[in-house]
Amino acid sequence: MIRAGKLVAFPTETVYGLGANALDSEAVDRIYLAKGRPPSSPLIVHVDGIPMAKTIVSEWPPEAQKLADRFWPGALTLVLPKQSIVPDRVTAGLPTVGVRVPSHPLALALISKAGVPIAAPSANRFTELSATTAEHVRRSFSRQVAMILDGGPTQVGIESTVLSLAVSPPLLLRPGMVSLHDIESLIGPVGIGGTPQGGSHASPGLHSKHYSPKTRLILIDDGVLPASGRGAYIFVALQAQAERVVRMPEDPMAYAAKLYAVLHDLDRQELDWIAVERPPQTAAWAAISDRLRRAAG
Ligand code: TXA
Ligand code: MG
Repeated sequence: MIRAGKLVAFPTETVYGLGANALDSEAVDRIYLAKGRPPSSPLIVHVDGIPMAKTIVSEWPPEAQKLADRFWPGALTLVLPKQSIVPDRVTAGLPTVGVRVPSHPLALALISKAGVPIAAPSANRFTELSATTAEHVRRSFSRQVAMILDGGPTQVGIESTVLSLAVSPPLLLRPGMVSLHDIESLIGPVGIGGTPQGGSHASPGLHSKHYSPKTRLILIDDGVLPASGRGAYIFVALQAQAERVVRMPEDPMAYAAKLYAVLHDLDRQELDWIAVERPPQTAAWAAISDRLRRAAG
C-alpha cells in the first residue's frame, strides 16, 4: 500500500504516525489533506537505518553519526540538508529534512519491506492530541487511511526530540524524552529554538496551540481547581476533589507514556475543563511541561 501511494498508519515507540512514501509527492499530499495540516509544516521522514538516512540527506556530519550511534533506533529526529530526491512537499519547501529511525519493530518492518523512506506526521488532526493507540487513530481517520497497523499502546508516549544539525551550533527545535542533557553530553552545546515567528519555517510542533484536547486544559500550581463546571484533575503529588481524578506516575518516563491516553479518554467525557498539576520544573520533565503548556494554549 505504501508503494501504491496510499496512507498507512503505524505505531512508533513515540506516537502513531500517518505514513506515506516520502519519495512520492502525491502520496505525501494525501497526508496534508487527511490531517488538515498547513502545507508550510514539514514532515519527519522515517528510515530503517543510517544507510537509508544517507539516501535522503546531503550531509552527514560527525555529530549526526555520534547521535545516531547512540540514539537510533529511537526518539530523536535529526534535521539535515536534504537531497533533491526528497520532494519539496515533504519539507514544506525547506532545504532541510527531518529524519529518524523509529525503534518500534512494526515501524521498522514496514519501512524495510516497503523499501522506501516513509514520511509520517503524528496520526492526529492538526493541533489535536497525538495518537498513542490504534483506536485513537481510527477515531480521527476512519476513512482516509488504507490501513492501520495495530502495535498496541506506544511506549514513550510523546513525540520525538527534534534537533537541527543544519545550523551551528545545533538547535533544539522540539524537546522530547531524549533530553537536551543527553544530546549535549555527546556533541557539546546546543541552542534552544524560540517560539516561531510564523512563515514557511514555522514548526507545527512549535505552534503555541498544539497537542490539545478539545476540552479546555489548565495548569494548576496549588491544587485549587475551577469552582464551577464538571472537570477532571490529573495530578502526581497534590490531591484535590474533582468529578474525575487521575493520579499519574511520579517517574517522568512512566508519566509521558500515559499522558495522551489519559487526555484522549478525559476528552470524551464531556467535561468543562481538565486541570493538570504543573509538573516539576526540572530537566527530566522538560518535554512533558512543553506539551502541557501547548495543550493549555
Ligand atoms: O515522534 C515523532 O516525531 C512522531 C512519530 C510519528 O515519528 N512524529 C511527529 O511528527 O511528531 P509531526 O509532524 O507531528 O512533528 C514533526 C516535527 C514538527 O515540529 C516539524 O516542524 C519538525 O518536526 N520538522 C520536520 N522537518 C523539519 C525541518 N526540515 N526543519 C525544521 N523542523 C522540522
Ligand atoms: Mg504532530
